[in-house]
Amino acid sequence: MAKKKSNSYICSVCDATFPTWMGQCSKCESWNMIVEISDELLDDSMESFSQPIEEVVANFDTAPVAISDPEVSRAIDGGVVAGSTLLIGGEPGIGKSTLALLLAKDAVGSGGRVLYVTGEESKEQVAARVVRCGLDTDGLEVIATSNIEKVVSTKVKYALVVVDSIQAISDSSIESPPGSINQVRQCSSLLSAFARRTKTPVVILSHVTKDGSIAGPKQLEHLVDSVFVLEGERSGSSRSLRSLKNRFGRVSEVGYLKMSSKGIRADQDFVASALVDRRSGAYGSAVTAIRDGLRVRLVEIQTLVVPTAKESPKRIFNGIASVRGGMIIGVLDHYIKLRSERFDIFVSVAGGVSIDDPASDLALAAAITSAITKLPIAKEVALFGEVGLTGEVRRVPLAYERYLELERHGFSTVIAPRSSDIDEVRVPGQIDIRTVSEALLAGRLIKSHNENV
Ligand code: TYD
Ligand code: MG
Repeated sequence: MAKKKSNSYICSVCDATFPTWMGQCSKCESWNMIVEISDELLDDSMESFSQPIEEVVANFDTAPVAISDPEVSRAIDGGVVAGSTLLIGGEPGIGKSTLALLLAKDAVGSGGRVLYVTGEESKEQVAARVVRCGLDTDGLEVIATSNIEKVVSTKVKYALVVVDSIQAISDSSIESPPGSINQVRQCSSLLSAFARRTKTPVVILSHVTKDGSIAGPKQLEHLVDSVFVLEGERSGSSRSLRSLKNRFGRVSEVGYLKMSSKGIRADQDFVASALVDRRSGAYGSAVTAIRDGLRVRLVEIQTLVVPTAKESPKRIFNGIASVRGGMIIGVLDHYIKLRSERFDIFVSVAGGVSIDDPASDLALAAAITSAITKLPIAKEVALFGEVGLTGEVRRVPLAYERYLELERHGFSTVIAPRSSDIDEVRVPGQIDIRTVSEALLAGRLIKSHNENV
């Protein structure tokens, strides 16, 4: 029979330790953050004695792992910092293990040793992925275990530890099965304490549940320093890595990646990928720049109108909320007398993109007007801005980023409201407008304000 270990209880927020479990930490007053921990895992350095701040600064060693991939580096703003825990969530098969190997390669590249803990796959499966991805991994060590104590009691100083995955490891001192809320919480706090104590960066991989939230308790997100999700259609190759929480850099950053049999890497063409098959010169088509976290993507809104015989003509929207679409049609009918009731209207965002950025309103208005007037929007023209019910076009965030991406992709004329964040930096080719009819005039889709088309 295994020897009964003695256990203590540690607050996951402030590291205070207690001989018994309590609902609320008596030191920092956090609720439900006290977890059981084996005494063997507690060492002296975890006791919280005060220290002069100069001494802390002098020992400050947070040089992050230098991430070589530009898109991963952008998403993980601030880098993989020593002593921190970084959670990467995603559906099974999306590429988490592959991405973790990319980070491992960067960490060994700087001369360090990396420990890859696999609780899900065999060592051979990990090795096969390393070979398939063609990674130079001198210094990468792999251990197949589901035992957290083995990991956090290591005496080796690693440049990075990867735990694949949090659902596949467990602490034998508590009874719940691997993947249960208790185990996930226990293992995360042990890893987080290990990271801080040994100044090792720890990357924790985690499956996301069907509704998209990180599996395990909400506290898991609270226990780690940074949280990222890897998303995409498993059947396709595009992936995005998004930051939901980042103690060392910007949140809402997004990195665009591509998955192939050779691994995962930056997808530099993603921003304009939805425009690749665009037919220029076609009426009913308008290009805009939509927001994606702190980035922008270029999309094409297409409209087809056909004369209707019905009393209530069809309004079909694909990729745009029908409420938003209906509102834009109302504005066009009222302010430029579009008389949309003559037509069935079909609107679609090309490439299966879904838009929920109001900055796309103006392009939607232009696409519908262009389809009805049969006047195409010139191929170098793009538009953005939020349309209001008084026919005004409102300013939107990230205007400068939108201009830059549009210009970079050949849109030399951008019709948009004047924006305070670009007043200082005038972008050539920008046409400031204040109302929908001004915008449609500038785009040569109508000939005068209040037109009866
Ligand atoms: P992986 O990193 O194992 O995903 P996760 O850790 O999130 O479960 O990546 C799995 C993907 O790798 C899978 O969707 C397809 C791709 N893949 C190849 O392209 N070629 C191969 O030979 C294998 C085994 C996988
Ligand atoms: Mg995996």
